[in-house]
Amino acid sequence: MRRYHLTTYGCQMNAHDSERIKGLLESSGLGEAASQDEADVIVFNTCTIREKADGRFLQNLMHARAQKARDPEKRIVVGGCWSESLKDELFAEYPFVDFAFGPGSIARLGDFLAPGGELPRGHFSTFDAFAGDLPMHRARPFSAWLQISMGCNSVCSYCIVPAVRGRERSRPLEDVLSEARRLADDGVSELTLLGQNVNSYGRDLPLTGRVSFAELLRRLDAVPGIDRIRFTSPHPKDMRADVIAAMAECPAVCEALHLPLQSGSTRILKAMRRTYSRERYLALVDRLRDAMPDVALTTDIIVGFPGETEDDFAATLDVYDTVGFDHAFTFIYSPRRGTEAAGMADQVPEPVKHERLERLVERVQAHARHRNARLVGSVQEVLVEGPSRTDPDTHRGRARSGKTVIFSPGAAVGAAVPVRVEAVTSQTLRGTVEAPVAVA
Ligand code: 5AD
Ligand code: SF4
Repeated sequence: MRRYHLTTYGCQMNAHDSERIKGLLESSGLGEAASQDEADVIVFNTCTIREKADGRFLQNLMHARAQKARDPEKRIVVGGCWSESLKDELFAEYPFVDFAFGPGSIARLGDFLAPGGELPRGHFSTFDAFAGDLPMHRARPFSAWLQISMGCNSVCSYCIVPAVRGRERSRPLEDVLSEARRLADDGVSELTLLGQNVNSYGRDLPLTGRVSFAELLRRLDAVPGIDRIRFTSPHPKDMRADVIAAMAECPAVCEALHLPLQSGSTRILKAMRRTYSRERYLALVDRLRDAMPDVALTTDIIVGFPGETEDDFAATLDVYDTVGFDHAFTFIYSPRRGTEAAGMADQVPEPVKHERLERLVERVQAHARHRNARLVGSVQEVLVEGPSRTDPDTHRGRARSGKTVIFSPGAAVGAAVPVRVEAVTSQTLRGTVEAPVAVA
């Protein structure tokens, strides 16, 4: 049997695309190889959001080239955002690549793999179709990603995504609902809705079938069997009252929100073209907490954006303290070819960026510990994922907040169990499964 090896970089959107890529490879009769060395078809699903992502991938790609030099029968396939960002230049620069495709044209991989099929060197199209009907190899039986839109209409000055994923296209409501029902029938109870700007969903749909993101949440909440709904990533500018109300009112929608801040300085936010100020972001957090007092808030922050002064950075730390986030992904600004910010004057020196990142990470850890400590003594509903990787006597799962919970005794994978929290770190909660309390 011919075998493939797939390496995935980047965001959850890419991880989900990789489930489709695996599905296509497997339905073409390929089995999964344990390593790149043993594979006949070496596949990469790439990311290009920061230079670091490119660097790690290129190292692996060069390794694949060396393997192909020894065994010319091997095939090298490159999909994802890095591919799309290079388009046809890719084959001039990397002639050993056999096939390449962008994030909007995964289905073309099936044509490439078809027996006796032509071997076109590449196919880039900003958008062929949603991959919703392609075969899928899911990592967890009870939890699934569901893509609701693709592309992004924002113009954040640091970001390469609009250039590679194109303008926003929403998937029609009926398609989203029927995939949700199919997944529920298949045993899925937890859905994570995916889109580059997930909460601007619907605005591009034809008037007759137009629904808002808030309405979509309500319709998905009503799908039998779906007990948890999450979504990523929303933009603060589209976090309107109707979305907050739907989150608060729909029992299945989790009390958790990833709300990218990027910077706490209004001046930098403006240069980033984020379209909100520090005050508007803070007011939004107040409205969210009024509606959902225990909502877990996480965020993305970039340090060292061009022109960021010590005062601007202090403003970011200040917003961080004011909100008291549950967690954050922190990034060093990375200039991306073709973006507005890459051409800005006042690029911040690397040592300054690194020093700011360190201070921010310390702050993130401190707040994470503090936010988790508040939960000691509480009972959390935990969706069981299985035995812990490090200690087989304990089990792991996720609370509705998205936090990882380590607990014992074990319980069936996919079950939702009540766990009383006894101890915490900045990364995890630990506790004991409570005997279900009988309701009189
Ligand atoms: N440099 C650093 N971080 C970036 N992000 C996006 N573009 C860049 C860049 N050029 C971060 C943002 C975004 C997250 C997915 O990646 O914080 O929310
Ligand atoms: Fe990377 Fe952005 Fe593409 Fe996701 S959408 S894979 S983060 S470049």
